[in-house]
Amino acid sequence: MFQSFKNFFHIKIVMNLYSLRNYFTNNGAVWLKLNGSDLENMISKIIDYNRFDLNDKNILDLGCGTGTMLRYAVDNHQCNAFGVDLIRLNIYQAKKKVPSGIFYRGDIIDYLNVLNEKFDLVILYGVIGCFTLPNQRLIIDKILESLNPGGLLWIGANLYEDFDYKFQTYPVPRNFYDDYKKSEQFTFDEVSEVELFGKHKYEPKQTSVMISYQP
Ligand SMILES: C[S@@+](CC[C@H](N)C(=O)[O-])C[C@H]1O[C@@H](n2cnc3c(N)ncnc32)[C@H](O)[C@@H]1O
Repeated sequence: MFQSFKNFFHIKIVMNLYSLRNYFTNNGAVWLKLNGSDLENMISKIIDYNRFDLNDKNILDLGCGTGTMLRYAVDNHQCNAFGVDLIRLNIYQAKKKVPSGIFYRGDIIDYLNVLNEKFDLVILYGVIGCFTLPNQRLIIDKILESLNPGGLLWIGANLYEDFDYKFQTYPVPRNFYDDYKKSEQFTFDEVSEVELFGKHKYEPKQTSVMISYQP
C-alpha cells in the first residue's frame, strides 16, 4: 500500500515537476543529481563497453524522458530511434531533439504489448524500479523477445533490496536475475555504475545490468 502510494507520487507528481523544470531549463535528465551531459556520458560508455556498431540499427529508450540519450545515439551513430514515456511534455521535447525518432506517449507495458519492431539496443534507465517485481519480469521478458541477434537490453540504475536507497520504489531481490544468468540464449553482465561511468554522482551501489541475445 505504502509502496504503491510512493510510486504514484513519484510518477504523477515528481516526474511531472522534473518535466516542467526541464522545459524551462533545458536540462536533459529527469532526475535530481543528473544533467544532460551525464546522460550522454552514460550512453556513450554503454556503447563503447559493448563495442556496438549501431549504424542503421534500431534503438529503443523506454522511459526516454526528454530524449537526451536517443539524440546522442542518433547524432553519433546514425541509428533509428524509438522512445516511450508517460509524460506528454517529455515526448514533446524528445520529438524536438530527435525529429527522425518514432515516439509513443503512454505506458511501457501497453507499448510492449503491441510491439512489432525488433531492436538492437533497448534502454531502461532509471525506470524499471517504478514497476512491481512481476511487472519488471514481464517487461524484461517482452524486451528480450524483441531483440535482434546480438541485441542488448541495458537496465540502468539497478538496485537490490538490501541497499538502503530511499528513492527506488521496487528494488529487486539478489536472486532476481538468476534465470537470465542461466539461460543459454542470453549472456548476462553486470557492472558497478560508479566504475563504468567514472563519476560519483550516482548511488554508489547502483549497477547496470546488460542482457544480450546470442542465439
Ligand atoms: C527517472 S526518469 C528517467 C528518464 C530518463 N531515462 C533519464 O535517464 O533521464 C523516469 C522516466 O520514466 C517515465 N516513466 C515512468 N513510468 C513509466 C511508465 N509506466 N511508462 C512510460 N514511462 C514511464 C517517467 O515519465 C520519466 O520520464
